[in-house]
Amino acid sequence: MNQLHLLKTHYNFLSRFYDLSDWFFEKFRYKQIRPIVWSHARGKTLDLGVGTGQNIPYYPNHFAKTVGVDLSEGMILRAKKRASLSGKSVEFYQMDATALNFSDNSFDSIVSTFMFCVLPNEYQLQALHECCRVLKTGGRLILLEYTYSNNFFRKLWMKILSPYLALVYKAGFNRITMDFLKLSNMWKLETDQFLYKDIIRLVVVQKI
Ligand SMILES: C[S@@+](CC[C@H](N)C(=O)[O-])C[C@H]1O[C@@H](n2cnc3c(N)ncnc32)[C@H](O)[C@@H]1O
Repeated sequence: MNQLHLLKTHYNFLSRFYDLSDWFFEKFRYKQIRPIVWSHARGKTLDLGVGTGQNIPYYPNHFAKTVGVDLSEGMILRAKKRASLSGKSVEFYQMDATALNFSDNSFDSIVSTFMFCVLPNEYQLQALHECCRVLKTGGRLILLEYTYSNNFFRKLWMKILSPYLALVYKAGFNRITMDFLKLSNMWKLETDQFLYKDIIRLVVVQKI
């Protein structure tokens, strides 16, 4: 079984408890951040790694239709319920970010929140390559991810927490998504800022 298959199985199981396990962080941390993330999205938008649909209430009201994809059917099932409760029009697909089943130049924006900190480093280049392929030229890739703090004590605390994070979410603070973005000369940096202390980072790049 490869790592993506394990991730899928894990998130299918976790989908039942995900919103509960993340409740505190959603309420006191992410809720304030998500509207800022979505203010960068334009036109036809893909929510990559849609999860249980925590972004859905923040989809701009003027968006005609947003597309949500996730590796896990269990997570998508929850996202579908959230979409119907919020009255937002969303098309869902079970899909792997490293092999997107969309034509080239399909989207104006891609938003991905906390998916790249779950995706193992060895799959990141392929997922970024797929994002680039399905985005139109001038389209935006909008990423919200955790990174290790530069503050000694905060970093130490994050190191202590990381086995829990790996066990429960299969996530890590050690993903090098920004390095992979810099490796490719397909992107122009638009925004790079921290939205929570120096650990939650918003990166917006434009496809050249
Ligand atoms: C930590 S959750 C974040 C969910 C949501 N974006 C949010 O902000 O609450 C990570 C999600 O990424 C999904 N995921 C992980 N690897 C993926 C892949 N290769 N393709 C698509 N989705 C993936 C997981 O199934 C999970 O739903």
